[in-house]
Formats: sequence, C-alpha cells, structure tokens
Amino acid sequence: MKITRLTINDLDKILELQNIIEKNLPNKNLFFTNDRFYFENILKQNSNLFVGIYDSDELISYSLLILNTNSYKRFFKELELTPSLKSADFDIVVVKPSHRGKGIHSIYINYFHEVLKQIDYNEVYATVHPDNNHSLDNFIKNGYEVVSKIEKRNGKSRLFIKKKL
Ligand SMILES: CC(C)(COP(=O)(O)OP(=O)(O)OC[C@H]1O[C@@H](n2cnc3c(N)ncnc32)[C@H](O)[C@@H]1OP(=O)(O)O)[C@@H](O)C(=O)NCCC(=O)NCCS
Repeated sequence: MKITRLTINDLDKILELQNIIEKNLPNKNLFFTNDRFYFENILKQNSNLFVGIYDSDELISYSLLILNTNSYKRFFKELELTPSLKSADFDIVVVKPSHRGKGIHSIYINYFHEVLKQIDYNEVYATVHPDNNHSLDNFIKNGYEVVSKIEKRNGKSRLFIKKKL
C-alpha cells in the first residue's frame, strides 16, 4: 500500500471520494465534510501533509495532517489549554468502504508519527465523534488519550484526543 502526496491534480478525486464516504455514513454527525475551497487551500500550502492511497487509478483513501494547531484553536481556547509549539493536527482520514478493515487508518497514523518525530514535533491532536467506534478504536490502539469531551448541541459532540510522541 503506497502512500502518495496529493496535489491539486487530485482535487476532483478527493471530492468524489468524500461524496462516497458521506453517502455511506451510518450517522452524518460522525464525519464533517469540507468544501472544494478548503481542499484547494490545503493543497496549495506545502506545510501540510495531505496524502492518499491509489488502487490503480482510483483514489481509495486520503488523510490530512496539519503542521500547526490552527484547526483546533477553538478547542484549546475552550479548554484553556496551551498546546506545544511543536504540535500537529490529525485533521482527516477516510477509507473507501470497499477497502476498509485492512488497517489503512493505522498505516497513516504510524506514517504521520514517523514524519513528526523526524521534524521534532512532540504532540499530535485529533477529534472523533464518541460514537465513531472504528476511528476511536484505531486512535486508542495507537496510543492516543482522551483529553476532553466537548459537548455540542445537535449530536455534534467530539472527543478531543492527543498523543505524545
Ligand atoms: C474510520 C475509518 C477511517 C477506519 O479505516 P480502516 O482503515 O478501515 O480501519 P481498520 O482497517 O482498522 O478497520 C476498522 C474496523 O472497520 C470494520 N470493518 C472491516 N471491514 C469493513 C468493511 N468492509 N466496511 C466497514 N467496516 C469494516 C472492522 O470492524 C474493523 O475493525 P477490526 O479490524 O477490529 O475488525 C473508516 O471506517 C472511514 O473512512 N470511516 C468514515 C470516515 C470517518 O469516520 N473518518 C474518521 C473521522 S474521525
């Protein structure tokens, strides 16, 4: 399974896969989608690690690591926490339903951890819906701990999780 760095040329395939993921969700609160503009911006910034896996010419999975704590800023504020200056955000992971159960999520987790250690990062954060058992199990299995549960109205609560590297 080869992890490839995604570029602007993959944008349509990213959106296509996100559509499939969204249609297959048992509960739409488990995963929040992003628009074209968000992905476009991410792909233009070299500092983020946006990677995917192709099966022939089909994108079957992607994952995004953001190399600063911008996406979780409001959680830190809400929880009155100060992240390390060397902390990253595990922002997105999706695997096409036809390719699930093969450990792809853990492959990304380990890949990102290795990259982060090489650049001396010491923390990585993520958020997961408390009922997203498959995702949560993978993070816990790979050493993440729950920092806090953030309650939102409309079923949008999230577990804020962290791993020290
Ligand atoms: C969460 C997710 C990324 C896990 O990816 P994955 O690489 O399939 O993870 P795993 O291989 O560890 O499989 C997890 C579990 O999925 C289940 N699974 C196995 N095959 C499956 C299939 N064909 N379809 C659905 N689930 C399956 C199994 O219970 C497996 O657990 P097990 O290995 O203990 O049997 C994936 O389910 C997904 O894309 N979900 C929708 C998007 C999402 O929720 N992303 C995370 C947001 S925080």
